[in-house]
Amino acid sequence: MAPHTEQLTRPAVRLAGLTRSFGGRTVLDGIDLELPAGQFTALLGHSGSGKSTLLRAIAGLDHGVAGGGRLTAPERVSVVFQDSRLLPWRRVLDNVLLGTDGKDAAERGRAALAEVGLKGRERAWPGELSGGESQRAALARSLVREPELLLADEPFGALDALTRIRMHALLRDLWQRHRPSVLLVTHDVDEAIVLADRVLVLDRGRIGLDLTIDRPHPRSYREPVLGEYRERLLAALGVTEDHQ
Ligand SMILES: Nc1ncnc2c1ncn2[C@@H]1O[C@H](COP(=O)(O)OP(=O)(O)O)[C@@H](O)[C@H]1O
Ligand SMILES: [Mg+2]
Repeated sequence: MAPHTEQLTRPAVRLAGLTRSFGGRTVLDGIDLELPAGQFTALLGHSGSGKSTLLRAIAGLDHGVAGGGRLTAPERVSVVFQDSRLLPWRRVLDNVLLGTDGKDAAERGRAALAEVGLKGRERAWPGELSGGESQRAALARSLVREPELLLADEPFGALDALTRIRMHALLRDLWQRHRPSVLLVTHDVDEAIVLADRVLVLDRGRIGLDLTIDRPHPRSYREPVLGEYRERLLAALGVTEDHQ
């Protein structure tokens, strides 16, 4: 049993009958979902299946979009996107601190940068950072708000494979230390399996598969047991592996 199971009692997010449509086309079709506090959930689905639409709905970023349903989400929510969205005219620490206040804000910003491995880069400009470093800064910016819920929309999608693996370890460590609920949108089945307690597959506007991954962290990509989860997820995504 995972060591944090006792924390997974209070739901952080609750969706009931969530619908969203664009131009009369239904993208989310009555989704019911609970994300327990502290759980790491991954959301998989084909391109265009509505993953970002669901994430934006939970983040409250979709005002004016057609749809309905009931949504409960925590007060402190941070969102990380594929592109770091750092402001190029502000130094890294100032980006991290954007929108935060309090007399110890700068101190917390420095601590967050140290946690993501960017100690010493506080005064760098975003343009001086690599893709991986930019995403580290984006994670620091989300952390400094001490979110109860971290929403991440393909945050590593633009990174090379080696950088992505290092970012997986970082995200896992940050999650274990701070214990927000995490919803990670990804199209990478292995990323979902190696990080998440639970993997959802979005299919035709609904949650087509809700799979619990009851394996201790940290996990290795090479664990044979993960192969079974991989096959179930690929089947749910309609991808069949040809072993001939
Ligand atoms: N603001 C919008 N206006 C019109 N169509 C949209 C908008 N946002 C998303 N869509 C459509 O909704 C569907 C789901 O999009 P999205 O949630 O971005 O999918 P995913 O993130 O899974 O790739 C797509 O067909 C997309 O074109
Ligand atoms: Mg998307």
